[in-house]
Amino acid sequence: MQRGLFISFEGGEGAGKSTQIRRLAEGLRARGFDVVVTREPGGSPGAEAVRHVLLSGAAEPFGSKMEAVLFAAARSDHVEQVIRPAVERGAVVLSDRFLDSSRVYQGVTGGIDGGFMQALERVAINGMMSDLTLILDLDPAEGLRRAAERRGDETADRFEKETLAIHERRREAFLDIAHLEPERCVVVDAARSEEEVAGRIAAAVDALIEGRQEKEAAE
Ligand code: TYD
Repeated sequence: MQRGLFISFEGGEGAGKSTQIRRLAEGLRARGFDVVVTREPGGSPGAEAVRHVLLSGAAEPFGSKMEAVLFAAARSDHVEQVIRPAVERGAVVLSDRFLDSSRVYQGVTGGIDGGFMQALERVAINGMMSDLTLILDLDPAEGLRRAAERRGDETADRFEKETLAIHERRREAFLDIAHLEPERCVVVDAARSEEEVAGRIAAAVDALIEGRQEKEAAE
C-alpha cells in the first residue's frame, strides 16, 4: 500500500482491546504488513509523560476541562511523532484508544461542552482520522470484573474507579458514535470468545485492506 492504514480500538475497561490488537498485529505481520502497535494516552515519549499525570489522577483536581486539554496535547504529539509518519510510509497503525475515548470520557461523562471538544479534536488530530474504528462492546459489569482480575493488587486508575452507572453511560456513548459514523465504526460483541472476536475483527480489517488495494489499483 502506498498510504498506510490507521485503525483504532475503542470500548470500555476490560473489553479485551490489547489482546485483540496483539493477535491482529501478529496476523498482519505474518502476511508481510509493516505494523505499528501503539496506545493512548501515550504512544510517543511526550505523550507517555502526560499519560502518567492523567491516569494517576494528578490532574483530576483541576477539572475535566484541564484533563481534556492534556489528552489533546498528548494526542497531538502522538499523531505527529508516531501515527502520521507511519501511515505515510505505508504501515498499518493499530492504536489502543484514540479520539473517541475523549469524546466519551471527557465529552459525555466529563460533561464538557461539544464545541470545546470539537475544537480540541481538530487541533489534536490535524486531519489524521482513523480509517476504521473497532468498538469492542461489553457489559461494563463484566468488563470491570475482567479489568480487576487483570490488575491484581494494583489500584484502579483515575477513570476505571468510577461508578458502574458512569461506565454504562460510556458504553451507550460509544454505541451512539458507531450509529452516527457507520462508515468508520464497526461494533464487535466482546462477550464472545477471544477466537470469535478475533474473527470479526479480521473480517473488518480485510474488507478495509481490500477496499484500499482496489482503490490504489484503479488510480
Ligand atoms: P489504560 O490503562 O490504557 O486502559 P484501557 O485498557 O482501559 O485502555 O487507561 C486509559 C484510561 O484513560 C481509560 O480509563 C480511558 C481513559 N481515556 C480518557 O479518559 N480519554 C482519552 O482520550 C483516552 C485516550 C483515554
